[in-house]
Amino acid sequence: MKVPFGNLKAHYQEYKTQIDQAVQRTLDSGYFILGPELTKFEKEFEEYLGNGYVSGCANGTDAIYLALMACDVGAGDEVLVVAHTAVPTICAIRMTGAQPKFVDIDAATYTMDVDDLESKITETTKAIVPVHLYGQVSNMEPIMALAKTHGLKVIEDCAQSTGALYKGRMAGTIGDFGTFSFYPSKNIGAFGDGGAVSTNSRENYDRLNMLRNYGQSKRYYHDTEGINSRLDEIQAAILSVQLPYVGEWNTRRREIAHRYTAGLKDVVVTPHEDPNGLHVYHLYVIQTNDRDQLIEFLMERGVQALIHYPIPAHMQKAYAYLNYKPGSLPATEYVTKRIVSLPMFPQLTDEQVDYVIESVKAFYETRTVEKNKMESPLNAGTTSYEVAINSRSGN
Ligand SMILES: Cc1ncc(COP(=O)(O)O)c(C=O)c1O
Repeated sequence: MKVPFGNLKAHYQEYKTQIDQAVQRTLDSGYFILGPELTKFEKEFEEYLGNGYVSGCANGTDAIYLALMACDVGAGDEVLVVAHTAVPTICAIRMTGAQPKFVDIDAATYTMDVDDLESKITETTKAIVPVHLYGQVSNMEPIMALAKTHGLKVIEDCAQSTGALYKGRMAGTIGDFGTFSFYPSKNIGAFGDGGAVSTNSRENYDRLNMLRNYGQSKRYYHDTEGINSRLDEIQAAILSVQLPYVGEWNTRRREIAHRYTAGLKDVVVTPHEDPNGLHVYHLYVIQTNDRDQLIEFLMERGVQALIHYPIPAHMQKAYAYLNYKPGSLPATEYVTKRIVSLPMFPQLTDEQVDYVIESVKAFYETRTVEKNKMESPLNAGTTSYEVAINSRSGN
């Protein structure tokens, strides 16, 4: 059996008729940029989020950049952010000229560690970018409380968490801004690049609409310095077709996740679901020893497994000038060596999921050394991360 990591071709085939019609309608309209399809999708996405305003833009990196610009973040400012994220989060901060300052994560939820966040706030801190990684919302209540105390802006990076909830609220509606990526493999993806910024403030929304369009308030009147970052009409039309299905896709992602967890919780560290939220499993990530050998074994059996992400941002060559030393973000560095992402997309069949489970189990059955480790559950060790992770694995 073959189990790919994703299958965008099958996804298109399933919705082909509607998508082809939407693309044709757009081509026939003669509107390609900032037209009725974008306005329609933005309104639909606002309704989906249930609160505030949405401004489409070219991609999820620009979405963060535009939100930071709207907060007047620039050179001389510091932005607090996790290093355990897709590097584009960091690219967006650097695009403003500000410096990222890295915050460690909670090793069980993979999101921002609030205690570490508090310890890193200084006079130069201007904003916080919590990343709702893998589909789970960060611990927003204490983050918002800290932001309020210190007068900081909060930009939720929701690239991986469209539809996720925190205490009943949609990801992207809690902070000052929410930023979304519609990269094709996301929980809702365009057929190319796409992104959006959400905000509860009309004033912020008007600013975003100018910033994404060369800073224009109206044609040829540039009230602020802007960029070119627009969600084009064809992508907006494709996203409108898909938006009504996101709920059922996320439900299926959760079903798959729970099937994996039931099958694997005694063998590896399975994801911890924060009881305050609804995890939408953009990625299903386990932790285990010998993960490189596990990935190789799975590949031999036709199962594609990946690592998100093998090198945290503070250890990337590009950011060496920030002078972070190994050991500076212990939980981040600990999980980085142990994480494996198993195939996760709504079209996966139960048979495929069961085959992945059997394959992971087979790896451990063939390895006596690992078997011994399994006798102490999940290699529960002595570090605080191991204890914390193992006490919450698979809930
Ligand atoms: C957490 C996170 N932030 C930001 C981005 C950037 O999104 P995009 O690729 O649409 O620019 C991505 C996607 O790659 C992401 O996963």
